[in-house]
Amino acid sequence: MNLLVTGGLGFIGSNFIRLMLNRHDDCRILNLDAQGFGSNIQNLADYKDDRRYTFFRGDIADSSLVSSLVEKADLVVNFAAETHVDRSISRPDSFLHSNVNGVFCLLEAIRDHNPSVRYVQISTDEVYGDILRGSSTEDSTLRPSSPYSASKAAGDVFVLAYARTYGLEAMITRCTNNYGPYQFPEKLIPKTIIRAKEGLKIPIYGTGENVRDWIYVTDHCRAVEQVLNRGRRGEIYNISAGEERTNLFIAKFILEMLGKSEDQIEFVEDRPGHDARYSLDSSRIRKELGWRPERSFEEGLQTTVEWYLQNPDWYGPLVNDSVLSATPWRLKW
Ligand SMILES: NC(=O)c1ccc[n+]([C@@H]2O[C@H](COP(=O)([O-])OP(=O)(O)OC[C@H]3O[C@@H](n4cnc5c(N)ncnc54)[C@H](O)[C@@H]3O)[C@@H](O)[C@H]2O)c1
Repeated sequence: MNLLVTGGLGFIGSNFIRLMLNRHDDCRILNLDAQGFGSNIQNLADYKDDRRYTFFRGDIADSSLVSSLVEKADLVVNFAAETHVDRSISRPDSFLHSNVNGVFCLLEAIRDHNPSVRYVQISTDEVYGDILRGSSTEDSTLRPSSPYSASKAAGDVFVLAYARTYGLEAMITRCTNNYGPYQFPEKLIPKTIIRAKEGLKIPIYGTGENVRDWIYVTDHCRAVEQVLNRGRRGEIYNISAGEERTNLFIAKFILEMLGKSEDQIEFVEDRPGHDARYSLDSSRIRKELGWRPERSFEEGLQTTVEWYLQNPDWYGPLVNDSVLSATPWRLKW
Protein backbone atom coordinates (compact mmCIF):
# COMPACT_ATOMS: atom_id res chain seq x y z
CA MET A 1 0.00 0.00 0.00
CA ASN A 2 1.47 3.38 -1.10
CA LEU A 3 -0.14 6.15 0.87
CA LEU A 4 0.35 9.88 0.32
CA VAL A 5 -0.52 11.81 3.47
CA THR A 6 -0.53 15.60 3.29
CA GLY A 7 -0.22 17.70 6.44
CA GLY A 8 1.33 14.72 8.18
CA LEU A 9 3.48 16.82 10.51
CA GLY A 10 0.39 18.34 12.12
CA PHE A 11 -1.60 17.04 15.04
CA ILE A 12 -4.06 14.63 13.42
CA GLY A 13 -1.93 13.76 10.36
CA SER A 14 1.00 12.65 12.52
CA ASN A 15 -1.29 10.55 14.72
CA PHE A 16 -2.72 8.98 11.54
CA ILE A 17 0.73 8.13 10.15
CA ARG A 18 1.74 6.63 13.50
CA LEU A 19 -1.42 4.50 13.54
CA MET A 20 -0.91 3.26 9.97
CA LEU A 21 2.77 2.39 10.46
CA ASN A 22 1.97 0.59 13.71
CA ARG A 23 -0.82 -1.42 12.13
CA HIS A 24 0.53 -2.25 8.66
CA ASP A 25 4.01 -3.64 7.99
CA ASP A 26 3.46 -3.29 4.22
CA CYS A 27 2.46 0.39 4.40
CA ARG A 28 4.73 2.85 2.59
CA ILE A 29 4.00 6.46 3.52
CA LEU A 30 4.92 9.67 1.70
CA ASN A 31 4.29 12.66 3.94
CA LEU A 32 4.00 16.07 2.23
CA ASP A 33 3.91 19.02 4.61
CA ALA A 34 4.81 22.70 4.19
CA GLN A 35 6.09 22.82 7.77
CA GLY A 36 3.86 25.79 8.46
CA PHE A 37 2.20 26.85 11.64
CA GLY A 38 0.96 23.85 13.66
CA SER A 39 3.46 21.45 12.14
CA ASN A 40 6.26 19.89 14.14
CA ILE A 41 8.97 17.60 12.77
CA GLN A 42 9.31 16.15 16.28
CA ASN A 43 5.82 14.62 15.98
CA LEU A 44 7.28 11.77 13.92
CA ALA A 45 10.93 11.93 15.00
CA ASP A 46 10.84 8.28 16.09
CA TYR A 47 10.07 7.22 12.48
CA LYS A 48 12.78 9.21 10.70
CA ASP A 49 14.90 6.07 10.09
CA ASP A 50 11.95 3.83 9.22
CA ARG A 51 12.34 2.75 5.56
CA ARG A 52 8.55 2.74 5.14
CA TYR A 53 8.32 6.51 5.84
CA THR A 54 9.53 9.44 3.67
CA PHE A 55 9.02 13.12 4.39
CA PHE A 56 8.78 15.80 1.65
CA ARG A 57 8.76 19.47 2.54
CA GLY A 58 6.40 21.30 0.18
CA ASP A 59 3.10 22.93 -0.57
CA ILE A 60 -0.06 21.08 -1.61
CA ALA A 61 -0.69 23.99 -3.99
CA ASP A 62 2.58 23.23 -5.88
CA SER A 63 1.20 21.33 -8.86
CA SER A 64 4.41 19.76 -10.20
CA LEU A 65 5.49 18.47 -6.77
CA VAL A 66 2.00 17.21 -5.97
CA SER A 67 1.68 15.47 -9.36
CA SER A 68 5.00 13.66 -8.89
CA LEU A 69 3.86 12.32 -5.51
CA VAL A 70 0.30 11.47 -6.57
CA GLU A 71 1.76 9.31 -9.36
CA LYS A 72 3.45 7.12 -6.75
CA ALA A 73 0.35 6.64 -4.57
CA ASP A 74 -2.61 4.22 -4.41
CA LEU A 75 -4.27 6.22 -1.65
CA VAL A 76 -4.22 9.92 -0.70
CA VAL A 77 -5.43 11.51 2.54
CA ASN A 78 -5.44 15.31 2.74
CA PHE A 79 -5.02 16.61 6.28
CA ALA A 80 -3.07 19.69 5.12
CA ALA A 81 -4.89 22.88 5.97
CA GLU A 82 -4.63 26.14 7.79
CA THR A 83 -6.61 25.19 10.87
CA HIS A 84 -6.46 27.82 13.57
CA VAL A 85 -9.81 29.63 13.65
CA ASP A 86 -8.49 32.56 15.68
CA ARG A 87 -5.78 33.15 13.08
CA SER A 88 -8.32 32.99 10.24
CA ILE A 89 -10.07 35.97 11.82
CA SER A 90 -7.00 38.19 11.80
CA ARG A 91 -5.34 36.81 8.55
CA PRO A 92 -7.79 34.91 6.28
CA ASP A 93 -5.72 34.93 3.03
CA SER A 94 -3.51 31.91 3.73
CA PHE A 95 -6.67 29.90 4.44
CA LEU A 96 -7.80 30.30 0.85
CA HIS A 97 -4.38 29.24 -0.40
CA SER A 98 -4.16 25.94 1.50
CA ASN A 99 -7.79 25.01 2.05
CA VAL A 100 -9.14 25.88 -1.39
CA ASN A 101 -6.28 26.19 -3.91
CA GLY A 102 -4.42 23.31 -2.26
CA VAL A 103 -7.43 20.98 -2.50
CA PHE A 104 -7.98 22.03 -6.11
CA CYS A 105 -4.34 21.28 -6.93
CA LEU A 106 -4.55 17.79 -5.37
CA LEU A 107 -7.75 17.00 -7.29
CA GLU A 108 -6.25 18.20 -10.56
CA ALA A 109 -3.12 16.11 -10.00
CA ILE A 110 -5.27 13.03 -9.39
CA ARG A 111 -7.45 13.74 -12.45
CA ASP A 112 -4.41 14.19 -14.71
CA HIS A 113 -1.96 11.64 -13.35
CA ASN A 114 -3.70 8.90 -11.36
CA PRO A 115 -7.51 8.93 -11.61
CA SER A 116 -7.93 5.52 -9.94
CA VAL A 117 -6.37 6.71 -6.67
CA ARG A 118 -8.65 6.74 -3.62
CA TYR A 119 -8.76 10.20 -2.02
CA VAL A 120 -10.07 11.25 1.39
CA GLN A 121 -10.58 14.94 2.13
CA ILE A 122 -10.40 15.63 5.87
CA SER A 123 -13.01 18.24 6.64
CA THR A 124 -14.71 19.49 9.77
CA ASP A 125 -18.06 19.79 11.55
CA GLU A 126 -17.52 23.56 11.45
CA VAL A 127 -18.72 23.69 7.82
CA TYR A 128 -22.29 23.17 9.11
CA GLY A 129 -22.06 26.14 11.49
CA ASP A 130 -23.55 25.95 14.94
CA ILE A 131 -26.72 24.12 15.84
CA LEU A 132 -28.62 24.87 19.04
CA ARG A 133 -30.70 21.67 19.12
CA GLY A 134 -30.35 18.30 17.41
CA SER A 135 -27.36 17.27 15.29
CA SER A 136 -26.14 18.05 11.76
CA THR A 137 -26.37 15.21 9.24
CA GLU A 138 -24.34 14.92 6.05
CA ASP A 139 -27.28 16.53 4.20
CA SER A 140 -27.51 19.61 6.44
CA THR A 141 -27.01 23.03 4.85
CA LEU A 142 -23.48 24.43 5.02
CA ARG A 143 -23.44 27.62 7.11
CA PRO A 144 -19.79 28.28 7.96
CA SER A 145 -19.19 31.05 10.51
CA SER A 146 -15.47 31.82 10.22
CA PRO A 147 -13.04 32.30 7.32
CA TYR A 148 -11.55 28.94 8.37
CA SER A 149 -14.81 27.00 8.06
CA ALA A 150 -15.78 28.91 4.88
CA SER A 151 -12.51 27.83 3.24
CA LYS A 152 -13.00 24.21 4.35
CA ALA A 153 -16.55 24.21 2.93
CA ALA A 154 -15.22 25.56 -0.39
CA GLY A 155 -12.65 22.75 -0.54
CA ASP A 156 -15.38 20.19 0.16
CA VAL A 157 -17.61 21.27 -2.69
CA PHE A 158 -14.71 20.95 -5.14
CA VAL A 159 -14.22 17.37 -3.94
CA LEU A 160 -17.90 16.58 -4.50
CA ALA A 161 -17.79 18.15 -7.96
CA TYR A 162 -14.68 16.15 -8.98
CA ALA A 163 -16.26 12.89 -7.78
CA ARG A 164 -19.37 13.63 -9.83
CA THR A 165 -17.91 15.23 -12.97
CA TYR A 166 -14.70 13.24 -13.37
CA GLY A 167 -15.64 10.09 -11.43
CA LEU A 168 -12.76 10.45 -8.95
CA GLU A 169 -12.80 7.97 -6.08
CA ALA A 170 -13.04 10.85 -3.61
CA MET A 171 -14.71 10.93 -0.19
CA ILE A 172 -15.07 13.54 2.55
CA THR A 173 -14.94 13.08 6.32
CA ARG A 174 -16.28 15.73 8.68
CA CYS A 175 -15.17 15.29 12.25
CA THR A 176 -15.81 17.07 15.52
CA ASN A 177 -13.15 18.57 17.82
CA ASN A 178 -10.14 16.30 18.33
CA TYR A 179 -7.89 16.13 21.36
CA GLY A 180 -4.95 13.93 22.34
CA PRO A 181 -1.12 13.78 22.19
CA TYR A 182 0.80 16.11 19.83
CA GLN A 183 -1.90 18.81 19.67
CA PHE A 184 -0.41 22.30 19.27
CA PRO A 185 -0.46 24.18 22.62
CA GLU A 186 -2.58 27.02 21.21
CA LYS A 187 -5.70 24.80 21.27
CA LEU A 188 -8.09 24.68 24.23
CA ILE A 189 -7.16 21.38 25.89
CA PRO A 190 -3.33 21.54 25.69
CA LYS A 191 -3.35 25.25 26.52
CA THR A 192 -5.48 24.59 29.60
CA ILE A 193 -3.25 21.70 30.74
CA ILE A 194 -0.05 23.72 30.31
CA ARG A 195 -1.38 26.92 31.91
CA ALA A 196 -2.95 24.96 34.79
CA LYS A 197 0.33 23.15 35.46
CA GLU A 198 2.28 26.43 35.42
CA GLY A 199 -0.19 28.04 37.86
CA LEU A 200 -1.35 30.60 35.24
CA LYS A 201 -4.92 31.85 34.76
CA ILE A 202 -7.07 29.69 32.45
CA PRO A 203 -8.72 31.98 29.87
CA ILE A 204 -12.27 31.00 28.94
CA TYR A 205 -14.12 32.84 26.16
CA GLY A 206 -17.42 34.54 27.13
CA THR A 207 -19.33 32.53 29.73
CA GLY A 208 -17.68 29.23 28.82
CA GLU A 209 -21.01 27.72 27.72
CA ASN A 210 -19.92 26.96 24.12
CA VAL A 211 -20.40 23.26 23.45
CA ARG A 212 -18.17 21.04 21.33
CA ASP A 213 -18.45 17.30 20.70
CA TRP A 214 -15.01 15.86 21.55
CA ILE A 215 -13.26 12.85 20.04
CA TYR A 216 -9.96 11.22 20.94
CA VAL A 217 -7.62 11.65 17.97
CA THR A 218 -6.95 7.93 17.44
CA ASP A 219 -10.68 7.24 17.17
CA HIS A 220 -10.84 9.85 14.39
CA CYS A 221 -7.82 8.27 12.64
CA ARG A 222 -9.41 4.80 12.78
CA ALA A 223 -12.52 6.25 11.14
CA VAL A 224 -10.42 7.82 8.35
CA GLU A 225 -8.80 4.43 7.69
CA GLN A 226 -12.25 2.84 7.31
CA VAL A 227 -13.37 5.50 4.83
CA LEU A 228 -10.11 5.21 2.90
CA ASN A 229 -10.60 1.46 2.53
CA ARG A 230 -14.35 1.13 2.15
CA GLY A 231 -16.01 4.55 1.75
CA ARG A 232 -18.28 5.12 -1.24
CA ARG A 233 -17.26 7.50 -4.04
CA GLY A 234 -18.64 11.03 -3.61
CA GLU A 235 -19.90 10.26 -0.09
CA ILE A 236 -19.60 12.39 3.03
CA TYR A 237 -19.07 10.73 6.42
CA ASN A 238 -19.65 12.60 9.68
CA ILE A 239 -17.42 11.38 12.53
CA SER A 240 -18.33 12.04 16.16
CA ALA A 241 -18.10 10.34 19.53
CA GLY A 242 -21.20 11.96 21.05
CA GLU A 243 -19.20 13.48 23.92
CA GLU A 244 -20.59 17.01 24.16
CA ARG A 245 -18.98 19.21 26.81
CA THR A 246 -18.86 22.95 27.50
CA ASN A 247 -15.49 24.71 27.52
CA LEU A 248 -16.07 25.56 31.18
CA PHE A 249 -16.64 21.88 32.06
CA ILE A 250 -13.35 20.97 30.38
CA ALA A 251 -11.37 23.67 32.21
CA LYS A 252 -12.81 22.58 35.57
CA PHE A 253 -12.19 18.89 34.80
CA ILE A 254 -8.52 19.48 33.92
CA LEU A 255 -7.97 21.66 37.02
CA GLU A 256 -9.49 18.90 39.15
CA MET A 257 -7.26 16.25 37.55
CA LEU A 258 -4.21 18.36 38.36
CA GLY A 259 -5.39 19.10 41.92
CA LYS A 260 -5.66 22.84 41.13
CA SER A 261 -8.27 25.40 42.20
CA GLU A 262 -11.11 26.63 39.98
CA ASP A 263 -10.03 30.14 41.00
CA GLN A 264 -7.47 29.87 38.17
CA ILE A 265 -10.34 30.28 35.65
CA GLU A 266 -10.63 33.76 34.11
CA PHE A 267 -13.45 34.72 31.74
CA VAL A 268 -12.19 36.76 28.76
CA GLU A 269 -13.77 38.61 25.82
CA ASP A 270 -15.38 36.19 23.37
CA ARG A 271 -14.09 35.94 19.82
CA PRO A 272 -16.30 37.33 17.00
CA GLY A 273 -18.71 34.80 15.43
CA HIS A 274 -17.97 32.20 18.12
CA ASP A 275 -20.29 29.26 17.44
CA ALA A 276 -22.46 28.24 20.39
CA ARG A 277 -22.67 24.50 19.79
CA TYR A 278 -21.63 21.91 17.23
CA SER A 279 -23.17 18.48 17.14
CA LEU A 280 -22.95 15.76 14.49
CA ASP A 281 -25.11 12.78 13.65
CA SER A 282 -22.56 10.08 12.77
CA SER A 283 -24.97 7.20 12.20
CA ARG A 284 -23.91 6.77 8.53
CA ILE A 285 -20.31 5.75 9.26
CA ARG A 286 -21.44 3.63 12.21
CA LYS A 287 -24.03 1.73 10.15
CA GLU A 288 -22.25 1.52 6.79
CA LEU A 289 -18.66 0.97 7.90
CA GLY A 290 -19.14 -0.39 11.42
CA TRP A 291 -16.95 2.29 13.02
CA ARG A 292 -17.43 3.40 16.61
CA PRO A 293 -15.24 5.29 19.08
CA GLU A 294 -13.26 3.20 21.55
CA ARG A 295 -12.46 5.82 24.20
CA SER A 296 -14.77 7.73 26.51
CA PHE A 297 -14.03 11.42 27.00
CA GLU A 298 -12.88 10.89 30.58
CA GLU A 299 -10.43 8.10 29.59
CA GLY A 300 -9.11 10.07 26.62
CA LEU A 301 -8.65 13.24 28.64
CA GLN A 302 -6.82 11.37 31.40
CA THR A 303 -4.42 9.89 28.80
CA THR A 304 -3.95 13.32 27.22
CA VAL A 305 -3.22 15.11 30.52
CA GLU A 306 -0.69 12.41 31.42
CA TRP A 307 0.97 12.69 27.98
CA TYR A 308 1.46 16.47 28.30
CA LEU A 309 2.77 16.16 31.86
CA GLN A 310 5.29 13.55 30.65
CA ASN A 311 6.36 15.50 27.55
CA PRO A 312 7.44 19.04 28.51
CA ASP A 313 10.37 18.63 26.07
CA TRP A 314 7.85 18.32 23.23
CA TYR A 315 5.70 21.35 24.05
CA GLY A 316 8.34 23.56 25.72
CA PRO A 317 9.93 24.86 22.46
CA LEU A 318 6.46 25.60 21.00
CA VAL A 319 5.18 27.74 23.83
CA ASN A 320 5.45 31.55 23.91
CA ASP A 321 3.21 34.46 24.94
CA SER A 322 1.19 34.54 21.73
CA VAL A 323 0.64 30.76 21.62
CA LEU A 324 -0.64 30.82 25.20
CA SER A 325 -2.48 34.15 24.70
CA ALA A 326 -5.90 34.53 26.33
CA THR A 327 -7.39 36.19 23.20
CA PRO A 328 -5.32 35.00 20.20
CA TRP A 329 -7.89 36.29 17.69
CA ARG A 330 -6.85 39.85 18.69
CA LEU A 331 -3.21 39.27 17.70
CA LYS A 332 -1.81 40.20 14.27
CA TRP A 333 0.12 37.12 13.03
N1 LIG B 1 -8.12 19.60 15.12
C1 LIG B 1 -9.42 19.33 15.05
O1 LIG B 1 -10.10 19.28 16.09
C2 LIG B 1 -10.07 19.05 13.72
C3 LIG B 1 -11.41 18.65 13.70
C4 LIG B 1 -12.00 18.34 12.49
C5 LIG B 1 -11.28 18.43 11.32
N2 LIG B 1 -9.97 18.84 11.36
C6 LIG B 1 -9.23 18.88 10.09
O2 LIG B 1 -8.18 17.95 10.19
C7 LIG B 1 -7.04 18.39 9.43
C8 LIG B 1 -5.81 18.39 10.31
O3 LIG B 1 -6.02 19.23 11.43
P1 LIG B 1 -4.93 19.40 12.57
O4 LIG B 1 -5.63 19.79 13.80
O5 LIG B 1 -4.01 18.23 12.57
O6 LIG B 1 -4.14 20.67 12.01
P2 LIG B 1 -2.63 21.14 12.20
O7 LIG B 1 -2.67 22.63 12.08
O8 LIG B 1 -2.04 20.54 13.44
O9 LIG B 1 -1.88 20.50 10.95
C9 LIG B 1 -2.06 20.96 9.65
C10 LIG B 1 -0.81 20.62 8.87
O10 LIG B 1 -1.01 21.02 7.52
C11 LIG B 1 0.18 21.60 7.03
N3 LIG B 1 -0.16 22.51 5.92
C12 LIG B 1 -0.93 23.63 5.97
N4 LIG B 1 -1.00 24.19 4.76
C13 LIG B 1 -0.25 23.40 3.92
C14 LIG B 1 0.05 23.45 2.54
N5 LIG B 1 -0.40 24.44 1.76
N6 LIG B 1 0.83 22.48 2.02
C15 LIG B 1 1.32 21.45 2.80
N7 LIG B 1 1.07 21.38 4.12
C16 LIG B 1 0.29 22.33 4.68
C17 LIG B 1 0.78 22.34 8.23
O11 LIG B 1 2.17 22.56 8.04
C18 LIG B 1 0.46 21.36 9.35
O12 LIG B 1 1.50 20.43 9.55
C19 LIG B 1 -7.42 19.76 8.89
O13 LIG B 1 -7.80 19.62 7.55
C20 LIG B 1 -8.59 20.22 9.74
O14 LIG B 1 -9.45 21.06 9.03
C21 LIG B 1 -9.36 19.16 12.53
